[in-house]
Amino acid sequence: MGFRTKQIHAGVTPDPLTGAILTPIYQTTTYVQPSVDEYLAKGYSYSRSANPTVRALELKLADLEAGADCCCFGTGMAAIQGVMLAFLNAGDHAIISDVAYGGTYRLCTKVLSRFGVEFTFADTSRPEDVATAVRDNTRLVLTETPANPTMKSSDIAAISEIATRAGVVHAVDNTFLTPYFQRPLELGADVSIHSTTKYMDGHNATVGGAVICKTAEQDEAVRFIQNSTGSIMSPQVAWLTMQGCKTLSIRMDQQSTNAMAIARFLEAHPKVEQVSYPGLESFPQYELARRQASGFGAMLWFEVGGGLAAGKRLMDSVELWSLAENLGSVESLITHPVTMTHADVEEAERQRVGIIDGLVRLSVGLEDAEDLIAALGQALEQV
Ligand SMILES: Cc1ncc(COP(=O)(O)O)c(C=O)c1O
Repeated sequence: MGFRTKQIHAGVTPDPLTGAILTPIYQTTTYVQPSVDEYLAKGYSYSRSANPTVRALELKLADLEAGADCCCFGTGMAAIQGVMLAFLNAGDHAIISDVAYGGTYRLCTKVLSRFGVEFTFADTSRPEDVATAVRDNTRLVLTETPANPTMKSSDIAAISEIATRAGVVHAVDNTFLTPYFQRPLELGADVSIHSTTKYMDGHNATVGGAVICKTAEQDEAVRFIQNSTGSIMSPQVAWLTMQGCKTLSIRMDQQSTNAMAIARFLEAHPKVEQVSYPGLESFPQYELARRQASGFGAMLWFEVGGGLAAGKRLMDSVELWSLAENLGSVESLITHPVTMTHADVEEAERQRVGIIDGLVRLSVGLEDAEDLIAALGQALEQV
C-alpha cells in the first residue's frame, strides 16, 4: 500500500462495538478481566501499560516508518529519554549529533551524565568523526537529521554501517522530515524517534513522542522503560495525533513547496546575509538531502544583515508569522533559537556548532506562500 493510504488506514479498524470509523478515545484507567486465568485475554490491564487508542496510533506509526513496532510517549523528550534509558547503562558512552534540539543536549549534559553515562557531541555530518568517536563502551549513536536549528544533515546509511560494525544502536531523530520524506529504518538505522508535537500532530494542539524500532526486541526494551517510568501518551493526544497523521503527506508537500518559495525569496533579498534550506543548491549538503530523503521539509533559517539586533527587530515586527517555539504546524512560526529553543546550550558550544546569535528560524506553515513572503518582505524593509 502507498503512504497516503497507510497514513489514513494503518492501525485503524472500525470499532467492534458500534462500527465507529474513528478509533474511540478509550478514557479508562483499567480493564475488567473475565477471570484470573484469562488475565490479559483482551490485551489490556491498566492504561499505563497499554491503551487501545494509543495502540492504534502506535500501529499506524510503525507501519509508516516500516518498523517492527512503535511506542508512543508523553512528549518527544520522553521518547528520547526512553531510547537512552533502554540502550544505555552507567559506564556506557553515547555519540550524539553536535547540533540537535536543545532539550536533547540538556538531557545528556544535565541529567543522564549524573548517572554515569558519557557523551561525545560529534559532527555527525562527517561519518568519519562518528567512527573516530566510537569507544569500547559506546552503545548508542543518536543523530538528528536535518538538525534543529542549523539544518546540518547526517548520512543515515553511512552512520548505520559504522554503528552496525561496532555493534552499536543507531537512533535517528526524524522529527523534521517525518516518514513521508525520510525513513531511517529503511536506510539501516535501528530506531526512529519523533516529537509527534510537530508534523504528526501538525495543528499546534498536542505534545507527544514516538519511538519506532526495527526489531521487536528493541521495542520491548523501550516499552519496558516506558511502563517503568510511566511516560505515556494520553488517549486524547493519541486520537488528535491520529487525525493529524491522516493529512501528513499533503501538509508536508504543501509546506515544503511554501518553504522552497520562501527560501528562494530570502536568498535573493539584499538585506539577507545567508539562508539555509536543504532544497537550495547553495545548501552545503544538498546532494545528501536529495539522496536520502524524498523532500526537503519546511524548516529553514536565515540571517539578516545587521546580525542579532536586526534579526530581533524583524522577529518582533513581522506580521502573520507568530513568534513562538514549536514547529511543523499549519501556522507559520518564527523563532530565535538562541533565546528560545536552544537557550540551555552554552554560548561557546553554540558558537562551536554554528548556532549563531542572529539565526532566525522559520517553520513554514500552510498559509499562502505569497502572504508569507509579503509579510517577510515588509518586515525586512523595516530592519
Ligand atoms: C528535533 C526535535 N526533537 C525532539 C524535540 C522534543 O520534542 P517535545 O517538545 O515534544 O518534547 C524537539 C522539540 O522541539 C525537536 O525539535
